[in-house]
Amino acid sequence: MEIIRKVSSMREISSQILAARRTIGFVPTMGCLHDGHLALVRRMKQLADVVVVSIFVNPSQFGPDEDFGKYPRQLTRDTDLLIAEGVDYVFSPEAEEIYPEGPATTVEVEDLSTRLEGASRPGHFRGVTTVVMKLLQIVRPTLVVLGQKDAQQAVIVRRMIDTLFLGTELLVLPIVRDEDDVALSSRNAFLSSGERRASRAIYRALCDAREAAEAGERDPEAIVGRAREIIEAEDRLRIDYLELVDGNLLRPVTAVEGRMLLVAAVYAGVTRLLDNVEIAT
Ligand code: PAF
Repeated sequence: MEIIRKVSSMREISSQILAARRTIGFVPTMGCLHDGHLALVRRMKQLADVVVVSIFVNPSQFGPDEDFGKYPRQLTRDTDLLIAEGVDYVFSPEAEEIYPEGPATTVEVEDLSTRLEGASRPGHFRGVTTVVMKLLQIVRPTLVVLGQKDAQQAVIVRRMIDTLFLGTELLVLPIVRDEDDVALSSRNAFLSSGERRASRAIYRALCDAREAAEAGERDPEAIVGRAREIIEAEDRLRIDYLELVDGNLLRPVTAVEGRMLLVAAVYAGVTRLLDNVEIAT
């Protein structure tokens, strides 16, 4: 496995791979890899000839008061894990490579970027789409894969790929959970044992709401209310948002029908956790 630091080197390598008519599967990450990331890597190994993983803690997707400084970084451990998975290239550039000095170019998907996560974290999705666009231009993958845990991110990146005619295929893989059902996330490392125990209520709440919908509940507020009650029963948890939205454009649903997502952002102490379940009627 080769670790690439320079944009120019990564572009050159991708050119050669594509010229040889081989496919590139790409897994963009911010490192601190867990089994959720490794599931994405394994799927890319099955689907593409060459697998590239990027490890880049992207400054532009963190707000000024957010955890960019303390976001966990462990490149050596990450690269060891990726060697074991048979990854071909790790692209891990310095921030100056990705964001050269001078006026910046940004990419933003309107409307979708300002709701849910976007409302709580202004500018976050502009940072995500800008960096993903840059990474796609550098790596030029045939196939890119993201996890469903960041459901809104996946919807927004899909919209960017479609509306900018990028031609890359996007695959979104299901959430991977720990044995206690907490969705895997690099931020779980910040949880105390009490917060971790309390966090189990999030998925339990989402499942309870989904069961209610599957059993015929047709009032969106009643469905969300079921989940809210379970989460609010935990002292250590505080809901940032909890909404039932349509699966395509993430608008709050007025009627319970079709493919929907129940999405949650919940603070456990100071750590903000995301989770979601699909609800289909
Ligand atoms: O999901 C993430 O880890 C990041 O948002 C991504 C897609 C790698 C962009 O920095």
